[in-house]
Amino acid sequence: MTTAHHDPRLDAYWMPFTANRQFKQAPRMMTRAEGMHYWTDDGRQILDGVAGLWCVNAGHGRPKIVQAIQQQAAEMDFAPPFQMGHPKAFALADALTRLTPPGLNRVFFTNSGSEAVETALKMALAYHRARGEGTRTRLIGRERGYHGVNFGGISVGGIVTNRKQFGAMVSGVDHLRHTHDPARNAFSIGQPEHGAELADDLERLVALHDASTIAAVIVEPIAGSTGVLVPPKGYLQRLREICDKHGILLIFDEVITGFGRTGQPFAAQTFGVTPDMITAAKGITNGCVPMGAVFVQQAIHDTFMQGPEHAIEFFHGYTYSGHPLACAAGLATLETYADGGLLTRASALHDTLGQALHGLRELPHVVDIRHFGLVGGIELASRPGAVGQRAFDVFLDCFAQGVMVRTTGDTVALSPPLIISADQIGQIVETVATAIRRVA
Ligand SMILES: Cc1ncc(COP(=O)(O)O)c(C=O)c1O
Repeated sequence: MTTAHHDPRLDAYWMPFTANRQFKQAPRMMTRAEGMHYWTDDGRQILDGVAGLWCVNAGHGRPKIVQAIQQQAAEMDFAPPFQMGHPKAFALADALTRLTPPGLNRVFFTNSGSEAVETALKMALAYHRARGEGTRTRLIGRERGYHGVNFGGISVGGIVTNRKQFGAMVSGVDHLRHTHDPARNAFSIGQPEHGAELADDLERLVALHDASTIAAVIVEPIAGSTGVLVPPKGYLQRLREICDKHGILLIFDEVITGFGRTGQPFAAQTFGVTPDMITAAKGITNGCVPMGAVFVQQAIHDTFMQGPEHAIEFFHGYTYSGHPLACAAGLATLETYADGGLLTRASALHDTLGQALHGLRELPHVVDIRHFGLVGGIELASRPGAVGQRAFDVFLDCFAQGVMVRTTGDTVALSPPLIISADQIGQIVETVATAIRRVA
């Protein structure tokens, strides 16, 4: 098949999660970034409404992080992570456990959110086996969940487009229903009122499969990639209770919600529910160097620490687990967050973003508005037979106006850097409003 486009030098790169042919006909090339802004190859300044891809939480080009990466590259480029160590990996793990909820004080490093998810799922299985409950092999996810793109993650995930091309995936998985209920919850301010009872789906799955077969449940506290679904009041608490009752591990995938997005370092703290494991990535290095992590309850870690001391306890890891550049970036990122009080700033801006977004309520096509902390979603009615196109047109219009937003399905998603000003929130939302008025 031939592709009509202008520049054959763009052919070789097969872009991820992108309409490649459309992009290559009208590329959107970013060449520089600083603070709240990108600049394009044609010199336009773009206000970043999505922290790159929900990751540049402290804004772009932060000097401490830049210097740390430069120094580390010169000092030691790489150190093998298996049976060897380097000080910054230990220092970063230690520093991170000062931010995590109580008890989650053991850290396993990966290179992405997807890898953090695979790691957590494998840990859950191996943990139950180590404590003599090897029958607990079933993993439970949720409809509309996004847990990255590897086989475990898409198996527990619930986004049909990410699953249907890839065969049978991991077996023995089941799903809770999603919590999106516009009939009862549309235009909620913050957390929706209705839907805590949806957590009882886990009781039904226990009745169906028996608790002795279930290892873990994984959910995003706020589902991001599926269009910003804020947990109904009481839902996460109920899930925690049911997991406790049946000895099932609860994993929060905080790849998006971690590092200040909801007004606390982790959404677990914001919503007052402590899981057994947290998966994280993105904001851990301010998006500067790829890195992910799994935070684990010490009791889970300690269960592995048995048998002969010379034996490897967990046969899992990546060549780049705890890479020196990532650890240097991570330490400087935590300092940068602390310097600016950034990890709690989203709670101060929760109302500002909420009020600005709810001002869009009467615009054409707007069917729901959802928000929490510094994350927002504006759901538009889909065009008949063309799901996602209306929101994508809004995205293109915003980009032409100098603002970067993201779309998933027909939801326009906002997740700006945590340094954003109230005026810039206003600018982003005004730009989205103009775009919505213009698209058919
Ligand atoms: C909740 C969640 N989990 C996992 C991932 C995957 O992370 P990565 O793209 O770094 O593999 C993402 C990415 O957006 C995510 O939002």
